[in-house]
Amino acid sequence: MKMAQASMGLIGVGTMGSALALNIAENGHDITLWNLDPSTVDALINDAGELASKLTKSDSIEDLVAKMAPPRAIILLVPAGKPVDMSIDALLPLLSPGDTIIDGGNSDFRETQARTAKVEAAGLAYLGVGVSGGAEGARHGPSMMAGGTAKTYADFEPVLQAIAAKFEGDPCVAHLGPDGAGHFVKTVHNGIEYADMQMIAEAYGIFRDGKGLAASEIAPIFRRWNEGALDSYMIGVTADVLSATDPKTGSAMIDMIVDKAGQKGTGRWTVIEAIRMGQSASIIEAAVGARVLSSEKETRVAAEPLLSPAGEDPVVVIDEQDIESALITGRVLAYAQGFRILLAASDEFEWSLDYARIAEIWRAGCIIRSSMLDDIASAFRSDLPHGRLILSDHFSKILTDNVGGLRRVVAGAALAGIPVPSLSAALAWFDTIRKARGFTDLTQAQRDYFGAHSFKRTDEEGNHHGPWH
Ligand code: 6PG
Repeated sequence: MKMAQASMGLIGVGTMGSALALNIAENGHDITLWNLDPSTVDALINDAGELASKLTKSDSIEDLVAKMAPPRAIILLVPAGKPVDMSIDALLPLLSPGDTIIDGGNSDFRETQARTAKVEAAGLAYLGVGVSGGAEGARHGPSMMAGGTAKTYADFEPVLQAIAAKFEGDPCVAHLGPDGAGHFVKTVHNGIEYADMQMIAEAYGIFRDGKGLAASEIAPIFRRWNEGALDSYMIGVTADVLSATDPKTGSAMIDMIVDKAGQKGTGRWTVIEAIRMGQSASIIEAAVGARVLSSEKETRVAAEPLLSPAGEDPVVVIDEQDIESALITGRVLAYAQGFRILLAASDEFEWSLDYARIAEIWRAGCIIRSSMLDDIASAFRSDLPHGRLILSDHFSKILTDNVGGLRRVVAGAALAGIPVPSLSAALAWFDTIRKARGFTDLTQAQRDYFGAHSFKRTDEEGNHHGPWH
């Protein structure tokens, strides 16, 4: 069965679902739609123009399944968690062997593993597909990270390739491993997204609070950076956001937005999974933490007069060029941290993840797309020392060329009392990983002192104890 022959359905016709339905229809497929609120389906079909003939509304999940000829492929684009389980539970008694359920949401990979087992036990096929790129991506080409059996993926590859973003003709979609592998990679994608967004926000904070620049003055800097090594979707988004004017007040739009950041969970999951596997996700963790603290607005308002040093706000003397270098360094390190987590997961779950291919499918369509990803893919395709990005000729040179800027930015911001948690974490991570001899000899000695945990000696094999007592 090829998806080209399967009838297609979609549950969850929200912003993403509508956009994906149009993308699928545009690629020649009829698609039957169901949404809890039927008015969104009506609106989609009304506004679909010549694609409307490919879209069919259904009145219930039963009606959706009845309107589709087997074999059926039903895509779920509902919020992660319970809504996915509820949709699956409603579908299972209605579907027949040969049918496939595809979860295109930001699901927790562990839930995808459990759902795959459950759906396959019922004789059906399951794909967990991480879809990145927001509504624009869903409409004109997302990046897609698929998990499931090789056969199920192969059945659907033609249509996934058709609807995917293309990087120089190469579709940004791949089969990454069994069951939860695709959703795991999407989670880490989002962790990197959190880190990148936070570091950009920190750079903006230095310009705004440290240098006293207005949004309209900061926007062109980001616009210029987007022509260089930082060339990426998110730097472009930042330049656009900082250029926008509030239609209501005429002020810069950014100045009218409450500084409390939301989060749906994927950044947090990346950190939890990294720590569970004994990996550091410090840059991502700092970004998650920054969103958490941002939500404590009332505490921050109360703390400002109490905990801020008296007198003038310190002036920050940081070069614009250094801030650019800090972001370049931070971005390389955030990608490196993300790929390190993927490496650990690949070992733990025996996924044999293809890191180069992951970097390739992130080159277009997704939120973290940047000009660096092509070089990351090339680095992984070459003989990478210890499989680590930071040790490649290309990225070690970028790091050593730019880390001075990161160092001056973190030091300057610290002296001025401007929080730069992700940039600081990036620098600390860099300085730790580049030291052949660190300080944990002391940690080992302490552990042995109070718990007889033993240590290794620099000059002898085996486990040893110190002369402490
Ligand atoms: C993407 C995004 C997308 C969504 C995030 C936002 O790749 O297209 O990551 O999936 O925007 O889930 O996550 P938060 O609400 O947690 O910031």
